Formats: sequence, C-alpha cells, structure tokens
Amino acid sequence: MARIGVIGGSGVYQLLRGGREEKVATPFGDVVVTLGKIGDQEAAFIPRHGKKHSVPPFLVNYRGNLFALGALGVGRVIATNAVGSLREDLPPGTLVIPDDLIDMTKDRKYTFYDGNVEMTVDGRKVGGVVHVSMTPSTYCPEIRDSILRAGEKLALSPHDGGVYVCTEGNRYETAAEIRAIKILGADVVGMTGSPEATLARELAICYATIAVVTNFAAGLKTRAKLTHEEVSRTFSRRIEDVRALIKDAISLIPVERRCPCKDALEE
Ligand code: HPA
Repeated sequence: MARIGVIGGSGVYQLLRGGREEKVATPFGDVVVTLGKIGDQEAAFIPRHGKKHSVPPFLVNYRGNLFALGALGVGRVIATNAVGSLREDLPPGTLVIPDDLIDMTKDRKYTFYDGNVEMTVDGRKVGGVVHVSMTPSTYCPEIRDSILRAGEKLALSPHDGGVYVCTEGNRYETAAEIRAIKILGADVVGMTGSPEATLARELAICYATIAVVTNFAAGLKTRAKLTHEEVSRTFSRRIEDVRALIKDAISLIPVERRCPCKDALEE
C-alpha cells in the first residue's frame, strides 16, 4: 500500500527508489503507476502527461489517475504544475503553494458522482448525488504546511498562498483574458490544476500542489510570444529543487490525518 502519491512531470520520476510499473484497472481505463520509495515512504508516482509527455492538459485522464491512486491506498497527494504568474512579485522560478483555486476549464470530466456511479471509497459505498465541500480548505492544510516547512528548511522560500486559475487551454491565454482573471483574483494560471484538486476531494484524498512559475502570464510584462519551450526550460531549471522539496515535505507529513479532507464524504 502506498501512502503518498505524486502527480507531476517526468522530472519527478527520479525521486523514486526501486521504481516498478504497475497497471491499475479503473472504471476510466488502465492507468500506469510507478511504485517505489521516496525517503522511507512507499510512494506512487503518475506522470500527468504520460511518460513521453504526449498527453495535453485537456486530455489527461484526471479521474483515472485519482481513482488509481485511491485504489492503491494513497491518502495524500503532492502535485506539481507549471504556471504563469499574474504578479510582478512572483517572477519566473518562484515556487508557489496555492491556497485556493478557480476552475475556468470548459470541457473536462470533473466529477466521479454523475448520479449513476457507485464506488467504494475507504471501504464505504458512495454514489448517487454527492456534493463535496471545498471549504474550509481548498488544498489540504497539512500537506501545504509540510511543503512550506520543507521549503523553509531548504531555503527555497516558497510563496505561501495564492489563487490558481485553471484555464482550458490548449492555447495560452490572450492578454485580455489575463487582465480579466486578474480582476477575478488570480495569482497564477495553469492548465492542469483542475479538476485534479476537486477530484481528490471527491475521494477524500488530501491534495496540495507546488506551482512552479515558468513565465509571466500573457501580456503582463510584455506581449512577446509565449512558448512551451520557455515554460519547459524554466521548469527544468527548478526541477532539482522541486524534487528535494517533495522528498522533504513527505518526511514531514504527519502519519495520522487530522485535516478536514479525510472527512469529505462524511454526512
Ligand atoms: N498559462 C497557462 N498555463 C501555463 C502557463 C501560462 O501562462 N505557464 C505554464 N503553464
């Protein structure tokens, strides 16, 4: 049984010792998970965009990925995302630990509970109409706290808090869209944070993310063309820090869950 799940880019893969692949059958298709150890913890890793980075954000099997982790016994997930920054004080290279989310995606499978599905979560049957709550905390406070403490210890100065807006993509935003979502309260923008975070809540899995600022959002500082190459290059520059942060954060996550996420399906 893996206790910790990691969903992120392939650069995180090297964190796992003794990694072996396992195919997990889910109602949403097979998901390949790598099982191994991070520090002294059993961990499960899923490269969100596939091993060869061939799956675009809007085609990621978010439900399959979370379901597979739940089936493996994972109660906590640390994710990583590349993001554009809407704030001049959060320049490229900054590690942001968001504390809230706005979902601006348009065409994704965003729930497990479509009224028909019956699932067993933590040995309990759930199904029919289920509305989970994203309050009091959108992201797991215990995992956020562990990431922030690990970040301070490693002198990475992660930024505590921020609103992550998830856009549908597949293109980057227009300058006007960025001005609009800034008014809505966004601090960073990416294409993969949703519905991952909310699907985790639907399974009562704790979830928090490390958002790596790879660029200023479109039109914020310049109207220069934004490219995937620039995003990947900046992300790669921080990958060793992100790996160290995940490893140390995992060692700081308390064994027993005391956060509200674990009660997400309690009535
Ligand atoms: N917009 C959306 N997704 C992103 C960005 C961005 O500016 N940078 C990295 N992922």
